Amino acid sequence: MNSFIENVNFFEGNNPEELAKTYGTPLYVYNEKILRNRMDAVAKVITKYPYTANYSVKANTNIHILKLALEEGNNCDAMSVGEIQMLLKAGFPKERIFFVPNNVSEEEMQFAIDNGIMTSCDSLQQLELYGSLNKGGKVAVRINPGVGAGHHEKVITGGKKTKFGISEEFIPKIFEIAEKYNLTIAGINQHIGSLFMDPQPYLDAVTNILRIALQFKDLEFIDFGGGYGIPYHKLDDEAVFPMEDFKKRLEPILDDFVAKYGRAPLFKSEPGRFCVAEGSVILGRVHAVKHNNGKTFAGTDIGMNVLVRPSMYDSWHDIEVIREGKVVARDNLMEQTVTGNICESGDILAKDRPLPEMKRGDLACVLDTGAYGWSMCSTYNSRPRPAEVLICKDGSVKLIRRRETIEDLMKLF
Ligand code: LLP
Repeated sequence: MNSFIENVNFFEGNNPEELAKTYGTPLYVYNEKILRNRMDAVAKVITKYPYTANYSVKANTNIHILKLALEEGNNCDAMSVGEIQMLLKAGFPKERIFFVPNNVSEEEMQFAIDNGIMTSCDSLQQLELYGSLNKGGKVAVRINPGVGAGHHEKVITGGKKTKFGISEEFIPKIFEIAEKYNLTIAGINQHIGSLFMDPQPYLDAVTNILRIALQFKDLEFIDFGGGYGIPYHKLDDEAVFPMEDFKKRLEPILDDFVAKYGRAPLFKSEPGRFCVAEGSVILGRVHAVKHNNGKTFAGTDIGMNVLVRPSMYDSWHDIEVIREGKVVARDNLMEQTVTGNICESGDILAKDRPLPEMKRGDLACVLDTGAYGWSMCSTYNSRPRPAEVLICKDGSVKLIRRRETIEDLMKLF
């Protein structure tokens, strides 16, 4: 594909150069139609049984984006008190929030209890803590399914090497603690990891947790976790996650469980990336081009403070080059290393990447930045965090987060 942003009309008729001039760079730009489309798709993964998709807000907690999830009928999972507060502020009722933390303090757990938010305990000690704070309450436990999957070792969350969940051998202990505090184990959840394009490991994990679920008598819900991938190599025509095929293969696994369990609890999933990644790009300015030792470096203002994924996980993000508001055709490519403006050699957005020749003043448009983009930004090198704008359905542009300022950073002293 020559251009994703042209193919999907990402800017809905707005000129990206004008956006960059009006709001400054680096700039996160979101497309409402794409966000809603993906949120709607996850809401329909299971149609035969009671089901909710819990948008996993760690991927992106901009309140305006949370409101879209609310409207699209997604529930949400939260990882921290901060995420719960963002959700409450966005208008989510407590029943639509699932707290899935690990290693939280007594105060944090108490916050969830006081707000009536269903909580999952990630260890026996956290379950003990929950029981001591809320005797007779309803709670969930996170199971470590023993299998994991993901795009990088750092994002695999199931299996023997990870810190997450309670392994199967300790299930009798869960029942002991539940009895001690008169708790009802109303739900079990898992998450095997982030970003897989082949549904098989997820289906295996679903089969596995449903086998485990048979030991729990009072389940109101079973949460299979997130991780559905998106094609980060879309300019090379990478296929999308095979959602229809996945749904077809999931259904008989659920049928089998419902027959054995005698009833269908509420099934849940927890997609983050799938809902928001493709609905955002970053516009950044090329400030300097240099040729060092036979290598060409295009230096932009999209540093690892703005998008950390490439330096943290060696993640690939497609880049399009925009000159005077128009996408530069990809017919004459040359190898360039695209960097940011941070004082680290690892501050690399794309290494030895064949791209149209970038010139000073061009815009680099980085694709698929809606998930784990702004939410993982930092102020490293005392650089304020970028602004975010939403291109609304009708093509209008809304500033949904103002750019941070140096004064904002100074306020903490
Ligand atoms: N549920 C739980 C318990 C999780 O820990 C996560 C992600 C999700 C759901 C959503 O996973 P998703 O559908 O987005 O794959 N920063 C990394 C990804 C870390 C994911 C952490 N947990 C990245 O940029 O690739």
